[in-house]
Amino acid sequence: MVRKRRTPSNSEVKKPEKGTNSAHSSSSNGSSTKGKSSKPFDILGYWKQLVLCIVLGIAVSCGYMGYLETRINTPFDGKKVVLKSGLDIPERFWGSYRPGVYFGLKTRDPASLVTGLMWYFPNRLKPGGHGIRHWCEQGDNLAKYGWVRHDGKNFGEQEIIDRPFSLNTSFIKRLGGSNGGEWSARISVDYINKNVANEAKDELVSLIWYVALDEETKGYIEASYSQTKIIGIKGYTSTLGDFKLKFVNSSGVLDHESFLSTTAPGLHLLKETVISSLRLAAPQKIVLAGELPSFTGHDEKLDPNFVAVQLTGRVPFTMDVIFESGSFSYRPDTLVGDTYTKILQKNRVQFDQTFEKKFQLKTKGIPSSSKEYAFAQAALSNMIGGIGYFYGASKVQSTYIKEPVYYWRAPLYTAVPSRSFFPRGFLWDEGFHGLLISQWDLDIALDIMSHWFDLLNVEGWIPREQILGVEALAKVPSEFTIQWNTYANPPTFFLTLESILRRYGDKLNEDQWATLERMYPRLQAWFSWFNTTQRGEVPGSYRWRGRDPDTTRELNPKTLTSGLDDYPRASHPTDEERHVDLYCWMAMAAHALATLSDALGQDGRKYRQTADYLMDNKLLDRLHWSDFSRRYADYGLHTDSVRLERPQPLPRQQNQNMEMQRVVFKKPEYRLVDGMTFGYVNLFPFLLQIVHPTSPKLETILKDMSQPSILSKFGLRSLSKTSPLYMKRNTEHDPPYWRGQIWINMNFLAVRALKHYSEAEGPYRKLAEGLYKELRKAVISNVFNQYRHTGYVWEQYNDSTGEGSGCRPFTGWSALVVLLMSEDY
Ligand SMILES: *[C@@H]1O[C@H](CO)[C@@H](O)[C@H](O)[C@H]1NC(C)=O
Ligand SMILES: *[C@@H]1O[C@H](CO)[C@@H](O)[C@H](O)[C@H]1NC(C)=O
Ligand SMILES: *[C@@H]1O[C@H](CO)[C@@H](O)[C@H](O)[C@H]1NC(C)=O
Ligand SMILES: *[C@@H]1O[C@H](CO)[C@@H](O)[C@H](O)[C@H]1NC(C)=O
Repeated sequence: MVRKRRTPSNSEVKKPEKGTNSAHSSSSNGSSTKGKSSKPFDILGYWKQLVLCIVLGIAVSCGYMGYLETRINTPFDGKKVVLKSGLDIPERFWGSYRPGVYFGLKTRDPASLVTGLMWYFPNRLKPGGHGIRHWCEQGDNLAKYGWVRHDGKNFGEQEIIDRPFSLNTSFIKRLGGSNGGEWSARISVDYINKNVANEAKDELVSLIWYVALDEETKGYIEASYSQTKIIGIKGYTSTLGDFKLKFVNSSGVLDHESFLSTTAPGLHLLKETVISSLRLAAPQKIVLAGELPSFTGHDEKLDPNFVAVQLTGRVPFTMDVIFESGSFSYRPDTLVGDTYTKILQKNRVQFDQTFEKKFQLKTKGIPSSSKEYAFAQAALSNMIGGIGYFYGASKVQSTYIKEPVYYWRAPLYTAVPSRSFFPRGFLWDEGFHGLLISQWDLDIALDIMSHWFDLLNVEGWIPREQILGVEALAKVPSEFTIQWNTYANPPTFFLTLESILRRYGDKLNEDQWATLERMYPRLQAWFSWFNTTQRGEVPGSYRWRGRDPDTTRELNPKTLTSGLDDYPRASHPTDEERHVDLYCWMAMAAHALATLSDALGQDGRKYRQTADYLMDNKLLDRLHWSDFSRRYADYGLHTDSVRLERPQPLPRQQNQNMEMQRVVFKKPEYRLVDGMTFGYVNLFPFLLQIVHPTSPKLETILKDMSQPSILSKFGLRSLSKTSPLYMKRNTEHDPPYWRGQIWINMNFLAVRALKHYSEAEGPYRKLAEGLYKELRKAVISNVFNQYRHTGYVWEQYNDSTGEGSGCRPFTGWSALVVLLMSEDY
């Protein structure tokens, strides 16, 4: 599959697309006017031609504007990378692809049936439905929740602590039939402390399992029940065919059951729909309202799209939910009770064996019975169990259009950074996730990348935050939903790619090679997009777009696109600035793409050249080395003398509590952003292994890095304590984020780089090795200790106490700690 080489300049004159027609027709007209002008000079003809030219000029430029307007949401022109999905991959058809809920299953299919769990304890239910659990919400204050085992294909099991109760949720699957197989789920509830006096041990728990139809889904669902008993839910969708769900109290005493069948206004309002349908049937007896028909404005009855069944039992209590497909002609047994337990146990054993085979923690002296081992399994499982399947369209904006427009509707199979706080796809996070996922299951990792690269537009851009579908949208304030096509995010998928090639190399199978081949033109276009749109003024330099040069509120205008949000850069954004982290990302990316080109037998000379050019430490040093502070740094219009101050109220405007403004005490000047600022950005040439192993600058970096001002007992600080903006708020309302806190993705890169430099030929191996051991141990033990004490893996860690901070659970890149444990980067 040889594709014509594609650079941004020739892509603009590619075959006609939407909006390009007038540009094309005008150029052919243009040549015919030229033909006419070879006739003898004729004044009238001349004027005619002039008018024609002007008219044409306007037409061309209008056409060209139309062309520019539509490019943002025109898909990249080429074969899609994802060839098979949905029913074509039965082993991954059903799954826990709704990471934003505590427990729910859906299919990898745009028009999925959506099912999930809500629960509450009737004696503890508060007015307004407070106490009903559904979406992972930090405000629920659960002591703990997360997958303890999950393989991304066959099963998953999760432990939830909702004090004083413990809930375990799991699911298993059975392939077969012609509609994507079957599954069962189990929810058990018990007291955490099983020794509490017997009389306390009969509290009620209500487990609600629901089934809902997405807008896209064609089909029906209904509750099936008799006078005395709820039999279950049945339904039909075009993908699933006929199906039914049954509910069994597989252990424990059922107090009562009830159901709800209604039309919910949308998937984002399921809990609200439940709350408004709760009824008090008798004292202490809260039930769902049964059939609750909705009507259109013209009194037509709407078909139900939401059916829920509630089993209320006495703790301890277990409910099994059995999903059966009508397409099974033979079923040896029902996945319930003991059969369920046996299959779950078989899956566990299989998981444990695979886990040890992949990560070999026992050989690192971590016994499989230890808490550390269980923690590593949980961290991996939460990364895998956090994989979702979304469908929808992003809102995007370019400078050529006044209002944001919708991207094309598309699916996205992706892991998420945090099930509670960021339950959606993030471009640069995903490249880090891929490092772990690809070690667990390469097919899953490649499929995730394939989905992302199918989101590439014709410009070579991928929106960096994917908020697809109503559930995802409901979690994001609308002003933050728009993605600009001039904004980048670190191209971390090249890290994943490089890692895959290094690890698997010639062990890749034919399908996997074919996937990479289909991805290749898109990777090229993506690289090109970065290489052109994020280019700096000085040759070889790069600059993140999207900083606000006009803000007076921010202490240091943010660089959200870099992923490091408020990490201090040049104080006054200008076009002349250049960013050392982006330079290093580009060097790494070019190198990875050159490697892939070679592996695919493609001509990768220009990537090799670009890689060599950028990896050449002389260029790096010239653009970014500061002899003054003896470290690498950004360059730009900068001063350290800034402060937030509250403006004096104007006379007669008393009590005006005006927002704090940035005050500049010293005129900024063009220089390296060196001074006292020191942190992750300065370390990038080391983090991405661009500094040559023999460079004396490596020694300087290693020594700087081991200073207690940046190396805390718990890992590397994002910003050293000596930096002027260390732990400073960016605005009154904007607490520090990348200004001292310890982040695991960067610590991962640091440990990985230390390992590299401790093995590469050079005079600083010993130095690197010592630091490697120290940093690796610090990060692992802190993340583990925090998990033990708080029940969670966190977004970031406090540099003075090690405490988890930011959101939780954050088992996106923080889960890379598994790779630190296995020492396999
Ligand atoms: C959930 O699993 C854990 C670990 O196996 C166990 O200690 C706990 O009792 C279980 N809880 C329930 C409700 O089954
Ligand atoms: C389920 O609940 C019913 C009603 O309380 C009870 O008779 C039955 O024994 C329970 N089943 C199991 C397996 O515990
Ligand atoms: C990247 O851009 C530079 C110029 O800015 C160019 O010289 C180089 O060839 C480009 N690399 C690739 C692989 O397109
Ligand atoms: C880190 O912990 C210290 C000591 O408790 C506290 O003063 C500081 O504010 C914490 N930092 C963050 C970001 O929470």
